[in-house]
Amino acid sequence: METLRLQFPALAQSGLHYLDNAATTQKPAAVLDAMAQHYANDNANVHRGAHKLSARATRAFEGARRTLATLINAPKVEQTLFTRGTTEAMNLLASSLGELVLKPNALVLVDQWAHHASIVPWQQACGRKQATLKPVPMAADGRLDFDAYQQLLAQKPQVVVLTAVSNALGCRLDLPRYIAAAKAVGAVVIIDGAQLVAHEVVDVQALGCDFFAFSGHKMYGPTGIGVLWGKSEWLEAMPPYQFGGEMITTVSFEQSQFNVLPFKFEAGTPAIAEAVGLGAAAQWLMSQDRRALAKHEQQLLNYAQDKLRALTGVTLYSAFADNIGSLAFNVDGEHHADIGVWLDQAGVAVRCGHHCCQPLMQHLGISGSCRMSLAAYNNQQDVDAFIDALTEYLEFINDDA
Ligand code: ALA
Repeated sequence: METLRLQFPALAQSGLHYLDNAATTQKPAAVLDAMAQHYANDNANVHRGAHKLSARATRAFEGARRTLATLINAPKVEQTLFTRGTTEAMNLLASSLGELVLKPNALVLVDQWAHHASIVPWQQACGRKQATLKPVPMAADGRLDFDAYQQLLAQKPQVVVLTAVSNALGCRLDLPRYIAAAKAVGAVVIIDGAQLVAHEVVDVQALGCDFFAFSGHKMYGPTGIGVLWGKSEWLEAMPPYQFGGEMITTVSFEQSQFNVLPFKFEAGTPAIAEAVGLGAAAQWLMSQDRRALAKHEQQLLNYAQDKLRALTGVTLYSAFADNIGSLAFNVDGEHHADIGVWLDQAGVAVRCGHHCCQPLMQHLGISGSCRMSLAAYNNQQDVDAFIDALTEYLEFINDDA
């Protein structure tokens, strides 16, 4: 793992313990080099230039798409759409799929863990279509309540949006079980996979969902690019999300014909260098021993969890054996932002706040929390630095009291 860490230039900064990976991961040299190489040698627009640079850029861009399709075991490359990230993927779906399937009195389910990007676009779509959005509630232990979910499914929702791993808590969903239950009542199932892809191998065919969305920057790739995978029958039937160049075959002032997949959903010049970088990130991930990375992260998370549990005055919100990547906590009586500032003084980077999950925070009865989140390059020194700084904070406030 130490060799792996050396591949990330940003981590060479002395005194930095980067534990904010659920917000965004650092990038390996392979990704930075691929993007620099693209701009230095192959920079051109794709699918339209009459020259060699454009041909090379197009090959690299479409090659990246094939790599992403392989990463998630998509049956067809053209089902793999580039978006700006998970948020844009969810907006695309709420707008386009929403137009297709939502009728007055339709029901959309979104789980209680959901990120605002899964809630707000569907809330807006439901508002436009006089449909209803309902949350899948959490049980007392913080997991989703499967019995309540089944009761909601009995109301025959048109769409079910599920969070693979909670960004705020790190709790993971039993995806096969939840997807199968929704498919059994005929719902279209959308998975927010933003917090899963960096940590585990994803196979969209085995999952059986209709759509799977993720962001590049949370899986060691660049910002501004992500992927929406969807089943062909839906993508073919859905209206375009944005209009302009690339997404058409013919245009007159009277009417336009739309392009085939995936271009129908990719209006305008795409994020070419970012796609190349994301392809490199996917290649990088696939070249790793994914089981070994997952085991390392899990051991580190368990280590951090045990250490946090041993501290008096700390409340943990996400202490489960099957969590992925993140631990959320507060120091009793203290504001989460103060803890973040203290930890930062010790070089420990975490996120504090509502984590774009205000309904979840309301459910937990808190305004926000601190979240430490891991990636494959983190080591025990990072966790120790975090625990040491937090221990000093606890001593400081107790001395002060
Ligand atoms: N969704 C990102 C997070 O959880 C930004 O921090």
